[in-house]
Amino acid sequence: MARHLITSAIPYINGIKHLGNLVGSQLPADLYARYLRGRGHEVLFLCATDEHGTPAELAAAKAGKPVADYCAEMWQVQDDLGKRFGLSFDHFGRSSSDQNKRLTQHFAKVLDEAGLIREVSEKQMYSKADGRFLPDRYIEGTCPNCGFDSARGDQCDNCTKQLDPVDLIDPHSTISGSTDLEMRETKHLYLRQSAMKDQIAEWIDTREGWPVLTTSIARKWLNDGDGLQDRGITRDLDWGVPVQKGDAPWPGMEGKVFYVWFDAPIEYIACAQEWVDAGKGGDWERWWRTDKGAGDVTYTQFMGKDNVPFHTLSFPATILGSGEPWKLVDYIKSFNYLNYDGGQFSTSRGRGVFMDQALEILPSDVWRWWLLSHAPETSDAEFTWEAFQQDVNKDLADVLGNLVSRVTKFCRSKFGEEVPSGGAYGPEEQALIDRITTRVRTYEARMDGIEVRKAAAELRAIWVEGNEYLQHAAPWSTFKEDPETAAAQVRLALNLIRLYAVLSAPFLPDTSARLLAAMNTQDAAWPDDVPGALQALLAGHAFTVPDNLFAKITDDERADWAARFAGTRG
Ligand code: 2FM
Ligand code: ZN
Repeated sequence: MARHLITSAIPYINGIKHLGNLVGSQLPADLYARYLRGRGHEVLFLCATDEHGTPAELAAAKAGKPVADYCAEMWQVQDDLGKRFGLSFDHFGRSSSDQNKRLTQHFAKVLDEAGLIREVSEKQMYSKADGRFLPDRYIEGTCPNCGFDSARGDQCDNCTKQLDPVDLIDPHSTISGSTDLEMRETKHLYLRQSAMKDQIAEWIDTREGWPVLTTSIARKWLNDGDGLQDRGITRDLDWGVPVQKGDAPWPGMEGKVFYVWFDAPIEYIACAQEWVDAGKGGDWERWWRTDKGAGDVTYTQFMGKDNVPFHTLSFPATILGSGEPWKLVDYIKSFNYLNYDGGQFSTSRGRGVFMDQALEILPSDVWRWWLLSHAPETSDAEFTWEAFQQDVNKDLADVLGNLVSRVTKFCRSKFGEEVPSGGAYGPEEQALIDRITTRVRTYEARMDGIEVRKAAAELRAIWVEGNEYLQHAAPWSTFKEDPETAAAQVRLALNLIRLYAVLSAPFLPDTSARLLAAMNTQDAAWPDDVPGALQALLAGHAFTVPDNLFAKITDDERADWAARFAGTRG
């Protein structure tokens, strides 16, 4: 039994996540966590909300709520949706927690003691009416390039030109509308990542077997030279972790907070503390401190490709720079993007299907199956309603659902609701068992390697084996001449259902639970011995016929949903 620490990138607090976000980190992380638990390993699976920074402030302002209240409410919403999608986090934390505040301030202190922090004076736009410095996104004016009158301080949304706030004509504060703005001197802390470039580059170069997507992005940033420049880790904002050296004030930094990307990954560690403080775990250090037992932990991170630079360079710089024995990540699984029907999913424009909407129309397992079996691993992937309808109808209804329904109903009608006795497995059964054994070993290898699509394909192939066997053995015909042989065939098929429940649990947790309940068993042990597992349900074992597992998506439904989700969310 091994110990696995798993984290999913922590989603921004500002709004409900879309299915592209879900499949890019939380969902595959959950798949892996469930699989490893299923195999008997000890797993700590953590996620949280990413609550600081300008996006949180802006979203709260838009909702007309104090930012702390807004975050508390949205955490609840995300927590609830995560549970309804079957995301089996051991803890779903918050980056605004006290634990993260203390730990972030601690890291700043030790990095400073290691000589890795320098103070930089720079000029930034200040609004006298608002009494604060304005982040670029809080300043609007006329674009010097195209004349658009609501260009933001960082970019013009009309002509896409990257801007500096000073470029804008007639700039004003988006908070108060005030035009009384001036450039003022302000001081910020910079993490001296440049001093760690060689160390980080060597670390990246010695990572074996990492996905190409992960290492190529990391190398690009390292080699282009802009990835490991010194990085500002403080901001003139109200909402965030106050800049302190541990418990002590940081002279000259009063009223400032740490940059959201500095404290967010530290939340991976703080989340384990929250897990303990919530009474769910006994000891977080054995997961995170190599001097306290975390040396034998395997740590895997899941994230979308846009997050890779922060996890391959910046966060390791924080960890390594601290000089303290924190656990470093062992494997970074990153994903490309899932697109929506010819364009991008977009939170700001409300384009695509969002987690709450998805569950209004179909059970979570259906979404889990489609999303995971189309995970954007080697390239971007595309969601279309046609493909979705076709794939889930085929895989879930025609293959898995149909097998379960036929076998259980046939057994009930001829032998009653118990595993039939009599007959013995013959050469055809043995051949099936051999094929499934081989495929289960392949499935495990795909899951161990976190090859999500390939694992899904192998699981589907395992289901198909059962269907083809049943088609060929045809116990409904055999029964007429040879009820004993038919009994053995049905006995094997009922055992297949239990095996499928166990193997499918990482993808389809609810369906798996329903199948085990129908098979009237709590034996969800992983089939290390497949032939043995196919004899787990003995003759005479009672079961019940489950209700239809998966309703087929009709053409009308597909058309309705395609129309309903064609525009943008209000
Ligand atoms: O891209 C995002 O959604 C970020 N909130 C991810 C942060 S991951 C981490 F570092 F905490
Ligand atoms: Zn413009």
